[in-house]
Amino acid sequence: MELRVVSASAREVEADWLVVGVPEGGEWSNELIALDDALLEQLSRLREAGDLTGKLAELLIVPDTPTLKSRRLLLVGLGVPSELSVARWDKAAMTAVRQVSSKADVRIAVCVPEQLGPLTRDRAVEIAATSLIVGSHGQDLYKAERSRFPFAAAQIVLPPGSDVAAASAASDRGRILGEAINLTRELVNRTPDDIYPESFAARAQAEAAKCGLTCQVFDEKQLAAEHFDSLLAVAKGSDRPARMVVLEHRGGAANSPTLAYVGKGVTFDSGGLSIKPTDGMLTMKCDMAGAATVLGAMTAIARLKLPVNVIGYAGLVENMLGAQAYKLGDVLTARNGVTIEVHNTDAEGRLVINDVLSYAADHGADRLIDLATLTGACVVALGEDVAGAFSNNQPWCDAVLAGAKAAGEDLWQLPMFDAYNELLKSDVADCKNVGGRWGGAITAAKFLEKFVAGKPWVHLDIAGPAFASANKGHREGGATGCFVRTLVEVASSATI
Ligand code: BES
Ligand code: MN
Ligand code: ZN
Repeated sequence: MELRVVSASAREVEADWLVVGVPEGGEWSNELIALDDALLEQLSRLREAGDLTGKLAELLIVPDTPTLKSRRLLLVGLGVPSELSVARWDKAAMTAVRQVSSKADVRIAVCVPEQLGPLTRDRAVEIAATSLIVGSHGQDLYKAERSRFPFAAAQIVLPPGSDVAAASAASDRGRILGEAINLTRELVNRTPDDIYPESFAARAQAEAAKCGLTCQVFDEKQLAAEHFDSLLAVAKGSDRPARMVVLEHRGGAANSPTLAYVGKGVTFDSGGLSIKPTDGMLTMKCDMAGAATVLGAMTAIARLKLPVNVIGYAGLVENMLGAQAYKLGDVLTARNGVTIEVHNTDAEGRLVINDVLSYAADHGADRLIDLATLTGACVVALGEDVAGAFSNNQPWCDAVLAGAKAAGEDLWQLPMFDAYNELLKSDVADCKNVGGRWGGAITAAKFLEKFVAGKPWVHLDIAGPAFASANKGHREGGATGCFVRTLVEVASSATI
């Protein structure tokens, strides 16, 4: 998709759709006034009639604009200018882009608002670019008739006299982020028959080769040699052998700290012998979203050449119920020696990433983040759009929360009190793999804490936001690609 930054007055821009932001209340910008003049005060009349309120993400179409060079105008509300933020501009831009991406061969131009409140111009351009890339891709991979189309041409428009060179760099960053998010979305949206541990690993190798990441794939024999016995137990019920992918980006000095990103990659979660009912199983192709998020973020980190050392891990298994499947009452010995009594084979994610976390902690990680569609309990606690954060180290957790805020993604910390550990006690092993009915998102996190060797670690439970049940104005249903941006932001920030 052709994407360029131009500096021009909106009335001179040629496109099929010209997208212009409108503030809620207050004065209009010079640009908007100039556009209103060119349109013979049509916008003022719409405002007076109460049709143009500027409320966040509210759309108004002006279908015929003979006095402009663009064929049509799409007005999008920005909300109150002083409250504009990464998340709010993202929502407005995504809503506008999605409104016009359902037809092929569309030329779009998005004007970056003049009044940006607390947002920087570069950040606003970056977000516009990401929206153009993400908002023009759907979950229509297997449809004969596509429902979304990349734009034939896209322009990001700045007021006359703006610094186009700086903004072009921001737009390039936004495109890289958008393509990373779309890669994550594509992998999550693909069927479990398309994406299984081996095919995920092969795709990771291909993507790594394209962007200069080193990529190592551990097969089931290498995993056994490294004592990944907890992870391998989960894989036993499936004909698809387990894999672990290790992606490495060495952009920092040799003595600078190494960040490790660990993703849950259960390519399909049937629940195992503790089998899920149909409704719960239907969307379980999404259970590798953590791994796909790590892969997406690593490609962006490499393409952006961030001056940091980051290792990305994906623990890949399919949770099935074959004759060899692991059973209730089994006692597993994890890679770090902790023994685990299996009380529920559907609590499999923690039995996969525990071994990967312990491997990462033993292989140079100074700080860790894991991402997992881990518990329905987290969705009950925080709803479908917010991820849970859990940590053994408050400064590191604060850095991750700050990264999520800067990236405009919603993350909320939950407690890790010692008392929750009691719920994991077993009569026959060091612990059980489930903690009972209450506080399920937290007991899952307390379980994982046993495998990080005391290193600063944050667990992100993305079971809610990773996969959306329906379309909304500002985002497509299906895989969302959430937290790719946060991982890139954390790797870019000075705090590590
Ligand atoms: N993959 C699921 C969690 C999940 C639920 C992800 C909904 C996305 C949407 C996980 O493996 C699981 O099954 N967790 C169980 C844990 C329970 C058995 C302790 C759950 O949440 O029910
Ligand atoms: Mn499960
Ligand atoms: Zn699962």
